Formats: sequence, C-alpha cells, structure tokens
Amino acid sequence: KAKVAVFISGRGSNMAALLYASFHADSPYELCLVASNDTDAEGLKLAEAEGIATYALSHKGMARSDHDAAMETAAREAGAEYIVLAGYMRILTEGFVSSWEGRMLNIHPSLLPKYPGLDTHARAIEAGDSHGGASVHLVTAELDAGEVLGALPVAIRPGETADSLAERVRFAEHQLYPKILADYVSRDGDADFLLGKVRNLALALPETH
Ligand code: GAR
Repeated sequence: KAKVAVFISGRGSNMAALLYASFHADSPYELCLVASNDTDAEGLKLAEAEGIATYALSHKGMARSDHDAAMETAAREAGAEYIVLAGYMRILTEGFVSSWEGRMLNIHPSLLPKYPGLDTHARAIEAGDSHGGASVHLVTAELDAGEVLGALPVAIRPGETADSLAERVRFAEHQLYPKILADYVSRDGDADFLLGKVRNLALALPETH
C-alpha cells in the first residue's frame, strides 16, 4: 500500500475520512503519519487513538523554511510517498513543493478555478452562484492552481450562510478525498497514466512552428 502523510491544522475531519476509508481491505493507501503545525489540533488526538503516528510542531517563531524542513523530515522518516494536505492552513515554500511535485495533493473548498484562497463559501454566495463545492488538486507553487483531479458540486440553498454551506461542503469532501486519493495512488505507477501526463504537458507547450 502507498504510504501517505496527512498534514492538518485543526479539526481533521478530512483526515478522519481518509483514515477510515484506508481501513477498507482494498484501500491502495495507508496513513503512515498525521502531522500538524498546531500542537493542539483535534485531529492529532483522533489519529493517536487509532494508532497512527503523529508529529506536531508549532510554526510560531520559526522561519517558514525551517518549519517546512522539519515537517518534511518527519514525513520522510515515516516513509511517506505522498503528502496529503487536509485543512493544512500554511503556504509551503517552493523548495518543499518542488520536492513533492506530483506527490502532494490538497483539498480546497470551492469549485476551482473559482475562488482560490480564503473565504470561498462567502464569495460563492455573494456572487450568486448556484453551487459551491470542493476540489482535490495537485499542489504546485501557485496557490490552489495545480491540476484538478476531481471535484464535487454542492447546491447553494436560499438563505445559505457561509457556515451552513461549509458544513455541507465538508460532507462532500469526505466522499471526494478518499476516492480521488485512492484513484491517484493506484494510477500513479501506471504507464498509460504517466503517458497521459506527458501528453498533457506536450499540449500545454506553446507551438514552436
Ligand atoms: C476543509 O473544508 C478544507 O477544504 C479546508 O479546510 C477545511 C478543513 O476541515 N481547506 C482550506 O481552506 C485550505 N485552504 P477539516 O480540518 O475538518 O478537514
């Protein structure tokens, strides 16, 4: 099974969804570490109770690159092959991102490319959108801009508040993330999938003739 380190900053409900999905006998991944920049993160206690290794290091008073380096060492020592960001509210340094290129996923609470960054639900409601939602994407240096691997829409109801929408989007996230992660790690070694990636890259290149 592919070894996955999950980075969280708080509640960790997506981490819990990923964890319990990994208990299915046919899960292609398992969690080798849950790590947080907040030593009090609720999700750490849940991971511990389920026998998953945890690592916590507050970022306060630390240079961003030093904190990233410590998180990276923890992930590598745990044998992680993938890093999965699940409500990890830190922007990672370019060095960190490039060393995990193609092996780091994030979940974002909007239908990307709409609303990268913060306050996604309020922005979707304010814009009069019919749907909010969640997207799982590969992490690249540009915030919330990597290739989208999967997304689920969530209807915006009359009288919706950012909090009420956020809660329903989380239900959708819990369905989406384990499935997309499982698909991704299963396909990652697959020759056709890698060829497809190369083709996409070729399509993205400007015409030279
Ligand atoms: C999730 O809704 C996730 O999409 C969002 O934080 C929440 C974490 O909840 N992530 C971001 O906003 C990333 N910029 P959880 O801790 O219960 O999984």
